[in-house]
Amino acid sequence: MPDQYDMSMQYDNTPFTSADAPSDPLDLFETFFSLAQAHNALEPNAMAIATVEGNKPHVRYVLMKHYDARGIVFFTNYNSAKARQLEENNALAASFWWPSIERQVRIEGRAYKIDAKDSDAYFDQRKVLSNIAASVSLQSQPLDSRETLKHAFEEKLQAYQDAGTLERPAHWGGYVLEPSYWEFWVGQRNRMHDRIAYQKTDTAWEKTRLWP
Ligand SMILES: Cc1cc2nc3c(=O)[nH]c(=O)nc-3n(C[C@H](O)[C@H](O)[C@H](O)COP(=O)(O)O)c2cc1C
Repeated sequence: MPDQYDMSMQYDNTPFTSADAPSDPLDLFETFFSLAQAHNALEPNAMAIATVEGNKPHVRYVLMKHYDARGIVFFTNYNSAKARQLEENNALAASFWWPSIERQVRIEGRAYKIDAKDSDAYFDQRKVLSNIAASVSLQSQPLDSRETLKHAFEEKLQAYQDAGTLERPAHWGGYVLEPSYWEFWVGQRNRMHDRIAYQKTDTAWEKTRLWP
């Protein structure tokens, strides 16, 4: 088949081996994420997340807002399609791709709602106009027009201006993806890319190099 696009980049990084990979994948994630930020990646915290419903996959981007030893946190609407899918099956896979550093990180695990008080704390830090939009959104449901959206936003804005406060709606909050598998991909010349995977065992993370 002819290549209609021929956009394939020639990647070129220092070879990345198991010896360069620390025992805790979170430390490596921190290194890659910091590097992406230092190399001006646009929205370096954007990650594609995949859910399953029945035997059908669904994928979309969200923004990572926090990470720690427990996992990777993002915020969304608890009535959205993704939330419904996670309710049925909380298996979740995520992928970051940072073109400016030619690196991908994949994470697989289980997703759990975070504590309400942590969602409250993050909600209170956000711009109020974003919170108004989150409050009125019936995310993933059919919307008849942009006018309806604008009207809902303006009504809520007025209610906020009258009341002087806006509480986090129960339908909006965070999930944490608790990883059981990580994979770090580093682009190399001639498609001889480096891949290091980490599988969680009872006691530690087991590292494996994978063919590209
Ligand atoms: C770069 C980017 C970041 C996004 N961040 C979020 C986010 O943090 N939370 C969210 O609910 N949707 C976010 N979205 C919108 C989602 O991709 C998606 O459209 C929405 O969450 C509905 O998905 P669902 O119908 O599968 O639940 C983002 C979209 C893009 C392109």
